[in-house]
Amino acid sequence: MNEIVEFIRKSPKAELHLHIEGTLEPDLLFKLAKKNKIRIPFSNTEEIKSAYNFKNLESFLKIFYQGSSVLIKEQDFFDLTWAYVLKCKEDNIVHTEIFFDPQTHISRGIDFDVVINGIYKALEKGNKEFGLTFGIIMCFLRHLDELSAFKMLDRANEHKDKIIGVGLDSSEIGHPPKKFERVFKKAIENGFLTVAHAGEEGPPEYIWEALNLLKVKRIDHGVQCLKDSKLVEKLRNDQIPLTVCPLSNIKLCVFKELKQHNLKKMLNEKLMVMVNSDDPAYFGGYLNKNLIESQNALNFSIENIKTLLINSFKSSFLNDEKKIKWIKKFD
Ligand code: ADE
Ligand code: ZN
Repeated sequence: MNEIVEFIRKSPKAELHLHIEGTLEPDLLFKLAKKNKIRIPFSNTEEIKSAYNFKNLESFLKIFYQGSSVLIKEQDFFDLTWAYVLKCKEDNIVHTEIFFDPQTHISRGIDFDVVINGIYKALEKGNKEFGLTFGIIMCFLRHLDELSAFKMLDRANEHKDKIIGVGLDSSEIGHPPKKFERVFKKAIENGFLTVAHAGEEGPPEYIWEALNLLKVKRIDHGVQCLKDSKLVEKLRNDQIPLTVCPLSNIKLCVFKELKQHNLKKMLNEKLMVMVNSDDPAYFGGYLNKNLIESQNALNFSIENIKTLLINSFKSSFLNDEKKIKWIKKFD
């Protein structure tokens, strides 16, 4: 195995942009569909694989929400999350901050507690069994309205011991961050950390709004920022983390191929970027694969990889003591 691949595999990592529903692998999807008697429009893995060809974010979300419909019981959310916890162990992810989308489940009559408890129990087991630390971030679906988001915030308030922050995901274009300004203000007042997807497909203006109106601590994706030099200056000066997801961007046609991805340019601009897997079951790879394929396509040096991995810890919501502990391992 070449030296740099070995370095990637062996190094500790933090993952900061991962939708737990996006880790639903076809085998578990079939198993749960059968158990819960949910009809899905595929009869085998081959059919699923050919359906996982997306032309943009919107075309992916349709399949993604359909897949999530097999999740019914607390045990299903536990099994889903536990499978991801095992991937963390395999990829040497020592800290993860994961998203979940309660509105996707509530709209199907699944109770909020069923969702959060299943996810939380699996992460706690991972923590007890091999020390994986974690945070859970509840995302609002931006294609839904403000009132629905406020209702979710009320439910999240009942689970402050489990949920560290709120985020914003789903269809970006046509749903600017400003639509959720009041919800985010209340979330911050309630003590939640905040992040938002912005500049995945949408314009730099959405990144400005996420920073200025939603007051987020991190931007999820943010790859459109290079179109606006003032924005790049702001992101660099304030070292705002951008949680980049290379394989996701290729699968959703944000860039044609990995060689054309702007991650190296962002790194050269001294932006606070790191690599994440987003929805690995749909986009063809977990964190190590994202790192290895990006390194290969963009010719990253070991120093570049070190920077990306150190950035993953710096940008996390771990306390300073824990951040320093992990960053020291790269000396
Ligand atoms: N939900 C799951 N994955 C997403 C992505 N990449 N962008 C926006 N919403 C999402
Ligand atoms: Zn995402």
